[in-house]
Amino acid sequence: MLECDPHKKVMAARRVARDWRLGRLAYDFDVMMPDQPGRPEAPELLPPNRMPKRGKAGSERGRIALWHALAHIEFVAIDLALDMAGRFGAGMNAAFVGDFLSVAADEAMHFALLDRHLRTLGSHYGALPAHAGLWTAAHDTRHDVAARLAVVPMVLEARGLDVTPTTLERVRAAGDESGALILERILDDEIRHVRIGATHFADVAKRLDVVTETLWKTLVSRYFRGTLKPPFNDSARLAAGLSRELYAGVA
Ligand SMILES: [Fe+2]
Ligand SMILES: [Fe+2]
Repeated sequence: MLECDPHKKVMAARRVARDWRLGRLAYDFDVMMPDQPGRPEAPELLPPNRMPKRGKAGSERGRIALWHALAHIEFVAIDLALDMAGRFGAGMNAAFVGDFLSVAADEAMHFALLDRHLRTLGSHYGALPAHAGLWTAAHDTRHDVAARLAVVPMVLEARGLDVTPTTLERVRAAGDESGALILERILDDEIRHVRIGATHFADVAKRLDVVTETLWKTLVSRYFRGTLKPPFNDSARLAAGLSRELYAGVA
């Protein structure tokens, strides 16, 4: 998490996931997780209201801005997954740690694919400013694994399931087939990430002896600063283990 260089962070995230999978790491949590992850000098991080306009959707500038924004989301997602494993692993179990390290490895791959795509467009990660707010949800829920699971995989990553198909369609219609293939892969993987989050959340609820839906709704209204808004990708959400009854009531 402390690694600042994007390429090195990708390699380190993939390595820690592999080392865990191969049984080379002990189930041992004697290191405090940092409150802020390492970040490269570029991109400059700006509050959402200071982000420049993306430019017209079909324009070269608009296209680069889209891929850059997606790359930033995946870059932050690497740290979100590592923090989940490192901060909450001791209080959960080995399956939890393995799941979230595998998510970190996926996010690292997503970031690498997007950065490579940006380079084919003559740009790269860091060339534009990026959204400063993506770590807020992690910071706000740093004391409570249930709150973290409720908000990060089950709201924010689930939101990705809702919006990605539209982006994918637009990218494909514009003739960017390699970009479309990257988004298809990301969508597939994100269904798995949401499912991992929902599964461990249900385990926590069971341990606390509370109803999963009730706990989720309470935590989302307490810790999620935005609103859950339709349209929802019901089929992808269902595949991820989120039932319509769960989120429709909160929307
Ligand atoms: Fe991702
Ligand atoms: Fe993800």
